[in-house]
Amino acid sequence: MAANPYDLVRYPTFPQFQTHPDRLAAVGRLFGMNPAPVEACRVLEIGCGSGGNLIPMAYALPHSSFMGVDLAAEPVADGMSTIQDLGLENVVLHSRDLREVGPEAGQFDYIVAHGVYSWVHEEVREGLLAVCRACLAPEGIAYVSFNSFPGGHVRQMLREMMLHHVRNTEDAAERIRQAREFLGTLLESHHWPKAWGEMRDHEVKAMLKWNDGSLYHDELAPFNQRFYLHEFAAAAQRHQLQYLGEAEPHEMFDPSRGMDGLAGDVLERVEHLDFLKARRFHQALVCRAERSLNRSIAAQQMPGFLFSSCARREDDGKIAGLRGVRITAADEVSSAVALALGEVYPLPLTFNELVPYVGNEEALCEILFALAITGFADLHVYHFPCEERVSDRPRASRLARYQAARSPFVTTARHGAVELDEIGRRLVQLADGTRTQAEIAAALGAEMELDRVVSGLKWMASRALLEG
Ligand SMILES: C[S@@+](CC[C@H](N)C(=O)[O-])C[C@H]1O[C@@H](n2cnc3c(N)ncnc32)[C@H](O)[C@@H]1O
Repeated sequence: MAANPYDLVRYPTFPQFQTHPDRLAAVGRLFGMNPAPVEACRVLEIGCGSGGNLIPMAYALPHSSFMGVDLAAEPVADGMSTIQDLGLENVVLHSRDLREVGPEAGQFDYIVAHGVYSWVHEEVREGLLAVCRACLAPEGIAYVSFNSFPGGHVRQMLREMMLHHVRNTEDAAERIRQAREFLGTLLESHHWPKAWGEMRDHEVKAMLKWNDGSLYHDELAPFNQRFYLHEFAAAAQRHQLQYLGEAEPHEMFDPSRGMDGLAGDVLERVEHLDFLKARRFHQALVCRAERSLNRSIAAQQMPGFLFSSCARREDDGKIAGLRGVRITAADEVSSAVALALGEVYPLPLTFNELVPYVGNEEALCEILFALAITGFADLHVYHFPCEERVSDRPRASRLARYQAARSPFVTTARHGAVELDEIGRRLVQLADGTRTQAEIAAALGAEMELDRVVSGLKWMASRALLEG
């Protein structure tokens, strides 16, 4: 039997916040669903690899249960040994073809398939949607990401050239080497028309930064198919599933047109935006076709959510929030709400916690709705627990300490990945709740003085790495 390419060249997996039950539930609630509570739900991840996304969810949500499946045996075995080391009893990974998952696996409130749909042949794609239909609970939501048109045409062109360039070798390492060499040559070429050259350079520079796993499996893979949104939605419909929306809900709105952007046929509107934005990747959410949805969403729904944003004032007086979205400071009330969110970020605030900044619930609804549909702020339904202050004996999460001992990447309580340098890794491991700040500094010896240790610990708190 041919070796599984994902055993041959490993594909590192990381926490993906946009696949978290909190996000899926928030979008579901926005469109009138009644999704299962984040703290007590069942989650299935298809194509989970080594569990870099699923295991941190299971660690943080001990009363929810998690199952992952992936065809590649080695990443799954690695993930299972992490699960054992951490003593987690609410998560299991199976090395299995997704098409073997049937109704006997039970019903899931959330199903996640990130980076799978575009990279498998048609039979497996259909199988993936069939699993979603067979295993989604009545209020269940599935996340299926895929490469899309029209923006995907640029990558498609580069992929085709790369595949041609490496066609004479089967060896994985050599294919990666030749592809990198080819991309480097393209970057140096001055023969492309100027306007095309800018687009090419943007893409090529991004690809050259990818790790080997991403280059090999994303663009050099035998399958990497792009779809228009309507093609995906039609495939979902064949499996009695309907398009619910995007896991990044602001992607469904044209901020210049506010709510008008969603009136009428949502699919038409979002696809029209695909054309306006040259979108090349979708993080689509689907639910059972028979579930009726509320498409007349309104600012008045905002009291049902929590909100987060990394908002901070910039030198020019504007306030920058998530995804680089900026608001002017001219509107003092909106600014006060935004800055209040920035104060506690990455943790969210409830609607009621924000009322005092405006004094008027109706006005607050409008402000928060505008912040959410522009992508300045995220919507949540769940309050991520973490320690905001640095105690005398600070404790990084057990998961972060475990990860820091093995890699530069650790997971935050908000399900994000943070990259640490060598000293940061040692600091996280030493902050295990048994040492005072001074003892941590002493253990680091000459490498770090106490005041730097204190600021390092404050930084950890600000990244939601500490536990109470
Ligand atoms: C591009 S990787 C994405 C991994 C991970 N979800 C992420 O986004 O980082 C695709 C994954 O799908 C898995 N896969 C491919 N075909 C599969 C199948 N028929 N059944 C289960 N898993 C499959 C691969 O082994 C691989 O781990």
